[in-house]
Amino acid sequence: MTNALDQACEALAARYRAATPRSQALHEAACAVLPAGNTRSNLYFAPYPPTIARGEGSRLFDADGNAYVDFLNDYSVALCGHSHPRLLTAAGDVLKDGMSYGGCITAEVTLGNALRRRFPLLERIRFANSGTEASLYAVLTALQFTGKSTILAFDGAYHGGMMNYGPGGDRLNVPLDRVMVPYNDIAAFDAAIAAHGDRLGAVVMDLMLNSAGCIPADPDFARHVRAVTAMRDIPLIIDEVMTARLGYGGLQQAYGVEGDLAAFGKIIGGGFSAGAFGGRADMMAVYDTRGTGTSSHGGSFNNNVFSMKVGTVALTEVLTPEVMRTVNDRGDALRHRLNTLFQGHDVPLYMTGIGSVMNVHVGRTPLRRAPTHPASAKARRLLHLHQLCQGYWTAPRGMIALSIVNTDAEIDSFVTGMADFLALHAPILRDLEPA
Ligand SMILES: Cc1ncc(COP(=O)(O)O)c(C=O)c1O
Repeated sequence: MTNALDQACEALAARYRAATPRSQALHEAACAVLPAGNTRSNLYFAPYPPTIARGEGSRLFDADGNAYVDFLNDYSVALCGHSHPRLLTAAGDVLKDGMSYGGCITAEVTLGNALRRRFPLLERIRFANSGTEASLYAVLTALQFTGKSTILAFDGAYHGGMMNYGPGGDRLNVPLDRVMVPYNDIAAFDAAIAAHGDRLGAVVMDLMLNSAGCIPADPDFARHVRAVTAMRDIPLIIDEVMTARLGYGGLQQAYGVEGDLAAFGKIIGGGFSAGAFGGRADMMAVYDTRGTGTSSHGGSFNNNVFSMKVGTVALTEVLTPEVMRTVNDRGDALRHRLNTLFQGHDVPLYMTGIGSVMNVHVGRTPLRRAPTHPASAKARRLLHLHQLCQGYWTAPRGMIALSIVNTDAEIDSFVTGMADFLALHAPILRDLEPA
């Protein structure tokens, strides 16, 4: 049956190749400049990714003129879709006034206040250029504050390109002294705290694991980690870089669990590159060089005008509580429909996630920690190639992130496309069932 799966993938890859000759040529030219032809490793898939020419609303168009309904929205960044008119106006206004000052601007205060309204833990906040920077700074802030040098993190967590605790992290990670614990495992967490608690300067936690495949924290687990870290006086950092979009106050509000510090990125720049970290005023005071703070946090683009101004418009005018509720309700409904479909076709697939962000896995029950079953990669490749040929843009790793401009009609036809996929490939999928 492995052969059948490989053959099915090969047939889809051949269809994809036939539809994308220009992208293939552009990919080959790109490989002469960029290793693997890209500058963001997760964008690559075999035989080559299409070159994207433009985006509009809920669609992407490749260099061959193929249109894709975007069900990934830049891995969750583009919550407002592409070319949202209000954001385009805001970006145009920036161009009129110049875009790089090297001076303080009111927009960084406005964006800071917009974030504080959503995330009450943010007594003080600082901006950065990406979620990678923000989560790393949050950790380093806690270490600076406590004077300790060891962190506790969870297996499979991705806190950015330099704190990647899933596959592929290896030597690109910053060499922090680190205790690793399985996600959603209270006993393992307690054992690690008993053994290492005295030397921990930070615990860094997602309320939903991201690149391991949208695996939500058990509410009891999240509350336990918060209670124990508070009792032991270990700063808890919650990484909301991806999950801030899952509710008006992110997942901290939804879970009723607040960090001492938190990291943000993705949606907060309204489509422009951005990161932010902040939390307790006493901890963030390490940056208050007017007083006792001695840490100098630099970054030429930290308060860049595009991210500050367009991000403010996105957070205050476009992403209202109601709009965010609607997109996340739609995501919940889509996940439910897909899981019902998987059950109806008797295939071992399961969609995990929260609200507008989800990921498919091989299995019949929700995963609670980072997956180890190799079949997932094969099933995801088959599904991804199928969806690409049908004109849907999803992640090679099986992730979906809806935007506020994805329509109910697009969602309905996506579900119909999934039913076609299952009708065609159910026997191959059943053969991947974990033993
Ligand atoms: C939870 C989490 N933290 C950090 C990052 C890194 O953010 P960025 O890609 O903006 O550097 C990501 C990106 O996917 C993320 O999902």
